[in-house]
Amino acid sequence: MSQLSTRHLLGIKDISEGDIHAIFEQADNFKTVINRPIKRVPSLRDITVANLFFENSTRTRVSFELAEKRLSADIVNFSASSSSVSKGETLIDTVNNILSMKVDMVVMRHPAPGACIFLAKHIQAQIINAGDGTHEHPTQGLLDAYSIRERLGTVEGKKVVIVGDIMHSRVALSNIFCLQKLGAEVMVCGPATLIPKHIESLGVQVETNLMKALHWCDVANMLRIQLERQDIRYFPSLREYSLMYGINRRILDSLDKEIVIMHPGPINRGVEITTDVADSPQSIILNQVENGVAIRMAVLYLLAA
Ligand code: CP
Repeated sequence: MSQLSTRHLLGIKDISEGDIHAIFEQADNFKTVINRPIKRVPSLRDITVANLFFENSTRTRVSFELAEKRLSADIVNFSASSSSVSKGETLIDTVNNILSMKVDMVVMRHPAPGACIFLAKHIQAQIINAGDGTHEHPTQGLLDAYSIRERLGTVEGKKVVIVGDIMHSRVALSNIFCLQKLGAEVMVCGPATLIPKHIESLGVQVETNLMKALHWCDVANMLRIQLERQDIRYFPSLREYSLMYGINRRILDSLDKEIVIMHPGPINRGVEITTDVADSPQSIILNQVENGVAIRMAVLYLLAA
């Protein structure tokens, strides 16, 4: 039994507002722990977690590994590039072979949307989705909302604009679900070609003019253009994208208020955000990364409970 309403964390869509608050409260406790000289607690002793990364990652992978270590879990790390996947082994066979070595929980990143949902139907272990293609990245959605709560005191009633490549972004979808469950208003902004048709049906506003979006919002979450997921050209050039949708100091100074700037990383400096903004006090980008460890500790702990 988990202390959440779900056995796995496959997406924010499947969890309740109560689950999110429970994760945040537990993350508050773990933030205290990881700021102590002794950062380790025995909560997941005797639990074995496999980190299966079929796609590149810096933040999520390191953050999960640190979270697991700080909970005293046993860890096995797997990356597709150095495995027998390249010899034609299927996902289920790969994971079942790892699970037969008595693994309790699986953290998986995979390029295919729905890969974690598929796996959860076929294996016994608990699954945490660490990003599946263009579908969801639930722990990113949680840590983003948690970081807004930390900076602004609450998420409820705040206006958050997600700017950029909405079409190819799993972060956008998890953010939309998480922020709405917590009572925020959400807008998406970007070139019309990078905004999915019918996204309004999720209850978000759509704006193609960046300045209008920035005047509206309290928080701007700047996304990366995911060229690796684009098989056709959605805009003329990165330079033009940057001129239309990039954020810089001059733009922020022209607003009549100070908005909070976020980015899930990795950043393309000079494309969606300039260095003077990314590294400014208005930016909470590194707070997001720091909070990721506490959020992932909370998710692992509550699912394993
Ligand atoms: N934000 C995020 O998922 O970054 P990585 O791809 O480096 O894990």
